[in-house]
Amino acid sequence: TVLVVDFGAQYAQLIARRVRECHVYSEIVPSTMPVAEMLAKRPKAIILSGGPASVYAEGAPAAPEGLFETGVPTFGICYGFQEMARVLGGQVAHTGISEYGRTQLTVGREGVLLSGLPATQSVWMSHGDSVVAAPQGFQVTGWTPDTPVAVMEAPDRGLYGVQFHPEVLHSDHGQAVLKHFLDAAGCRPSWTMLNIVEDAVDAVRAQVGPRGRAICGLSGGVDSAVAAAIVQRAIGDRLTCVFVDHGLLRKGEAEQVERDFVAATGVRLRVVDAAERFLKALSGVTDPEEKRKIIGREFIRVFEDEQRAIMADGPVDFLVQGTLYPDVVESGGGTGAANIKSHHNVGGLPDDLRFSLVEPLRTLFKDEVRRAGEELGLPPAMVWRQPFPGPGLGIRIVGEVTADRLSILREADAIAREELSRAGLDREIWQCPVVLLADVRSVGVQGDGRTYGHPVVLRPVSSEDAMTADWSRVPYDVLARISTRITNEVREINRVVLDVTSKPPGTIEWE
Ligand code: XMP
Repeated sequence: TVLVVDFGAQYAQLIARRVRECHVYSEIVPSTMPVAEMLAKRPKAIILSGGPASVYAEGAPAAPEGLFETGVPTFGICYGFQEMARVLGGQVAHTGISEYGRTQLTVGREGVLLSGLPATQSVWMSHGDSVVAAPQGFQVTGWTPDTPVAVMEAPDRGLYGVQFHPEVLHSDHGQAVLKHFLDAAGCRPSWTMLNIVEDAVDAVRAQVGPRGRAICGLSGGVDSAVAAAIVQRAIGDRLTCVFVDHGLLRKGEAEQVERDFVAATGVRLRVVDAAERFLKALSGVTDPEEKRKIIGREFIRVFEDEQRAIMADGPVDFLVQGTLYPDVVESGGGTGAANIKSHHNVGGLPDDLRFSLVEPLRTLFKDEVRRAGEELGLPPAMVWRQPFPGPGLGIRIVGEVTADRLSILREADAIAREELSRAGLDREIWQCPVVLLADVRSVGVQGDGRTYGHPVVLRPVSSEDAMTADWSRVPYDVLARISTRITNEVREINRVVLDVTSKPPGTIEWE
């Protein structure tokens, strides 16, 4: 394990991911964690993240007592580097010169971190303070025009630091610098997908025990699918999956779960076709939050019915959840039910379900979950599925949700997805809601007849985390193909419009 000590940077998760890209397992811990607790995790190496503050500012997060005397190889980045310099007797000064963005690093002497790298290279900086003198016993191996000490190391003590951010892609050789540190620390690249999956399966087996039974709600999304596949490997038919088909999924998605996923994993699945029930409950409803509430409520009811039916065969003590590492980190790394997000599994499961949670993805990032899914042999369309809201197409019809409207939207959405995939844009686009403006009609002309149809909105966005987003600059010819095909193939639609609003002010979904 490599510990990434989080000094409050938005970069800690990125650092942890980059370490894992070197096939070394990493875990994020808060900078307030006492050193003894860190050592109890038996780290092979410690990395100190950047942080927003000046090391001399009041209330600035300090390195925990004794952090640099553990004998564990330690690498400070940005704030972590300055903190290392400060504690060990170097000099950190507010020089009045800030560096933000790309700058040129000059390699003075190769040392360990910069070994074999070009004599000058682009690195990405973001700091106000600078280390102006390295602590005694450190060699300065790199600098920039404004930073006299940009890279320092004391290999005999296993201590290293850089002012720049090796974890961001704008630092040309950042990944190599990180790799050099990990190699020097003796971290072996053993964190492979095969091991990850095997470890997860073993852990579930240990948790559930030889007789325990578990249930898992499948949503059609990648997280619940991968979590279920892992648990199935661990306990076989003692896992029952429940797929509540609320009739609001996109074209082909229900089949993916019922047929392809089951074929790939051998999961024992109960399918509930609840489309009619959901439609009935949604009848006459146009308010988005009202729709969400109804869908969530109905989902829980159906799930509880199923749960009772499964319990009739014997007790079930475990509930499988597809909780990911970012959720765990963001909620303070705690354990247990407090981490269930309200939108998990559509509406969120009720509090009074007295289950222990099985969360086999708790240590994984989204991209790792996808690769684990590939390793487990899940259908690619499922593994690479873009984010899709739990309430599904129910919140992509502006106006009342009806069966006819759903089938219109399903066709239009399928065309848009197909053309975006064909153009190779799947990885570039975060997601592309297709929204049916069901209560709007406009005049068109098709063949020699006048039409009075509905518009659909294309909402392709690029994003890192869905918190902010920008509209994607999809090439005009791709947009043209989508528009032509939708208006030709979906009779009720006579206009295709493009949403060019960023988030904020717009949200990604229209409802
Ligand atoms: P917004 O529209 O808020 O969406 O910019 C941000 C991300 O969340 C998804 N989303 C939902 N997911 N239940 C979900 O499970 C919901 O009610 C819901 N609403 C929005 C949306 O698709 C986007 O990825």
